[in-house]
Amino acid sequence: MTDRSTTMTVTLTVDGRSHEIEVEPRTTLLDTLRERLGVTSAKKGCDHGQCGSCTVLLDGRRHLTCLTLAVQQDDAEITTAAGLAGVDATAHGDPSLTALDEAELHPVQQAFVDRDALQCGYCTPGQVCSAVGVLDEIAQGHASHVTDDLEEGLDGGAPLTRDEIRERMSGNLCRCGAYPNIVDAICQAAGDPPPDRVAEAEIVSGAGDGGAR
Ligand code: FES
Ligand code: FES
Repeated sequence: MTDRSTTMTVTLTVDGRSHEIEVEPRTTLLDTLRERLGVTSAKKGCDHGQCGSCTVLLDGRRHLTCLTLAVQQDDAEITTAAGLAGVDATAHGDPSLTALDEAELHPVQQAFVDRDALQCGYCTPGQVCSAVGVLDEIAQGHASHVTDDLEEGLDGGAPLTRDEIRERMSGNLCRCGAYPNIVDAICQAAGDPPPDRVAEAEIVSGAGDGGAR
């Protein structure tokens, strides 16, 4: 039983639903979501900030919930991949998936479906949240390690190259290797024409490179 003298009260708004709960200060946001609130959209992969599967949007910015304490996020607005589709928080854990059937997918989610950007799907909620965060960061002019023209990037006008997407999504691992299609999906969600994969494959094979990472 939880000793209330060692807990703190936090209010978390998850996918539009507010929760006031007592948590121990050492409890991560990931464990709070999954174990206390039954919100299983964010996945626990490494629990050490290495894989990205626990990514959610915190007040609109992507965060790793395994590296975030719940008490640090008092009053935060948390959006999981389920919430991006407009799924009510009460639907979490509903095995009937009725609410998901009726959900309207976020453009990034729709692009993941259209471009076959998943295999086992375990990393996918984190990939989707991270991709939404990436597109927002680019729109706001945040440069990345591979942004060539920082002035252009800071205006939010940096070209959305595949290298930009790879770099910005590099914290989200996919063990089954859906990376090329994840990049395609993010291009689609950004409104860029899908790449000509046949032409790209020819170029890559001619260069002797290993291809999309
Ligand atoms: S579970 Fe959080 S980064 Fe892996
Ligand atoms: S789709 Fe399988 S780990 Fe990403």
